[in-house]
Amino acid sequence: FYLSRTIPLPHSEIAKKRFPDAIIVGVKKAGTRALLEFLKINPLVKAPGPEVHFFDKNFNKGLEWYREQMPETMNGELTIEKSPAYFHSKNAPERIKMLNPNTKIIIVVRDPVTRAISDYTQSSSKRKRLGLMPSFEEMAVGNCAMWLKANCTTKTRGVNAGWGAIRIGVYHKHMKRWLDNFPMQNIHIVDGEKLITNPAEEVSRTEKFLGLTPVAKPTNFGIDPIKKFPCVKKSDGELHCLGKTKGRPHPDVKLDVLQTLKEFYAPENKRFFQMVNQWFDW
Ligand code: A3P
Repeated sequence: FYLSRTIPLPHSEIAKKRFPDAIIVGVKKAGTRALLEFLKINPLVKAPGPEVHFFDKNFNKGLEWYREQMPETMNGELTIEKSPAYFHSKNAPERIKMLNPNTKIIIVVRDPVTRAISDYTQSSSKRKRLGLMPSFEEMAVGNCAMWLKANCTTKTRGVNAGWGAIRIGVYHKHMKRWLDNFPMQNIHIVDGEKLITNPAEEVSRTEKFLGLTPVAKPTNFGIDPIKKFPCVKKSDGELHCLGKTKGRPHPDVKLDVLQTLKEFYAPENKRFFQMVNQWFDW
């Protein structure tokens, strides 16, 4: 004991809190929690528990506060933070670049129509007055009332494009700010749908982007018998699934409204695909 306290450890072996090497910046409701939990299968990946929200809400707390939120890591380990509201925050890209222009940026995307429904499901579950909450259809294409903070007397291609749940899904508008600040080779796009159907492959791709030797394999995953979403399978076979706020049942949305949204997003999605040179089937 005496020796271990007096002989200084080589510098490389001192655990300390470090700024993140990579940040999962969004997109909200696209599967960001699942990605982070799955990346942690790799023992070199370390992350703070809660969302830190430094570059949007807590910036005035200062850099030392930010570092303090991080886990202790050894050399060779990677610190990853996830705050999905960064994606659509005006300031986050520039602020992250100011801290470290080599930060690796990870963005999970999914069909913006599904994402909007998921976002709505989350906000309506937060509002206790569920019965009073307008339907998704009313919010998305209706003559919105006082519920919508945005002015929705004018519609874009039949849609209340000012509603946050819709606006966040116009990915190219937000993506531009990231590309103004980071080169594409520092940005990794994760397919949120494949993260559900083939998590091992999506996670391996992300591990490679992070410069790690991939460890995620299909045998690391099992399916939640109730929610039908993938979970991490521990070595004893026990499933570690995400909490009850992830994988909620969505309301049935009228087909004509789904079609209007699909048509609304089609040109916006195309601009996003061209911007990142990656194509998705939505
Ligand atoms: P729903 O709860 O609306 O289905 P985020 O973590 O970015 O907030 O994303 C939440 C969404 O991730 C969930 O939205 C769900 O569809 C999706 N998801 C992806 N993989 C999942 C998993 N393994 N377990 C639960 N939800 C998952």
